[in-house]
Amino acid sequence: MEWITFNDGNRIPAVGFGVFMIPNNGPTYEAVLAALKAGYRHIDSAAAYFNEEDVGRAVRDSGIPREEIFVTSKLWLQDHGYEQAKKGIARSLRKLNLGYIDLYLVHQPYGDVAGAWKAMEEAKAEGKIRSIGVSNMTPALWNRFVPQFETKPAVNQVEFNPLFQQKEIRALMNETGTKLEAWYPLGHGDASLLSNPVITQLAEKYGKNAGQIILRFEVQDGVITLPKSTNPERIRTNLDIFDFALTDEEMEKMHALDTGKGTHNPDAPGVEEMLRGAFVIED
Ligand SMILES: NC(=O)c1ccc[n+]([C@@H]2O[C@H](COP(=O)([O-])OP(=O)(O)OC[C@H]3O[C@@H](n4cnc5c(N)ncnc54)[C@H](OP(=O)(O)O)[C@@H]3O)[C@@H](O)[C@H]2O)c1
Repeated sequence: MEWITFNDGNRIPAVGFGVFMIPNNGPTYEAVLAALKAGYRHIDSAAAYFNEEDVGRAVRDSGIPREEIFVTSKLWLQDHGYEQAKKGIARSLRKLNLGYIDLYLVHQPYGDVAGAWKAMEEAKAEGKIRSIGVSNMTPALWNRFVPQFETKPAVNQVEFNPLFQQKEIRALMNETGTKLEAWYPLGHGDASLLSNPVITQLAEKYGKNAGQIILRFEVQDGVITLPKSTNPERIRTNLDIFDFALTDEEMEKMHALDTGKGTHNPDAPGVEEMLRGAFVIED
């Protein structure tokens, strides 16, 4: 496994296991234990995934030392603002019950983000959170919020795959040394991506599957990637991308696949309201 170093000096495994949409009270516990057994050392959760308890229980029961496992969670919109964010952070810490959180993100960048960030900076200073970052920030949202931050985000977790390479936001993030974390790194299983001839030819050449070529491209491009699979074979092979490297010319061909378009536009009217009304996280 390769590790990527943040702008605050902490390190993160380049490939993580996402637990979005896996239920609490059993399924997430089993999935995280299986992922850790398969070699993953980076788990990506969120308050809004409603499974922080199972993530924490699996990490504690795994027999692997806590400091060898990197755990991310995220603050939900209802907890934006300084006082409320302190409560949201305390709730995540309690549910995970792992002593500290490696990385905590502002999940959706709307409302009093600056107040929430201040609470996250304090939790970082107190050692409750090791690194802090953001998610779903477009250039417009970045320019609205990040200039107000004292601590620059370690990461921005956004939709990213070879068809949507986020060039504009990456240029801004480079100015602060902020790393990109990819959600939908396999295009959410998009067949037009997985069967793209540039990718399938490289798969043939290296004796890998299309998903491995995509993930190798992402990691080689400096991106932290969060592939999701419920298939034991793919869970294993999605980690098996460190025994080959794409040439500069092949990286160029992969860069040329960018269409500049994804499935989610955080700037679109109504997105904030839709997310705010989606659910409430209980204590
Ligand atoms: N921050 C945010 O707002 C946000 C939003 C969305 C998601 N996320 C994060 O991103 C993670 C990943 O998202 P995702 O699961 O929707 O997208 P994804 O990883 O791009 O795609 C998963 C799909 O690809 C298939 N797949 C996995 N490995 C493959 C391979 N090697 N070859 C071919 N197909 C393969 C899976 O099917 P099988 O299961 O059958 O293998 C599944 O259908 C989430 O778990 C979450 O942690 C974050």
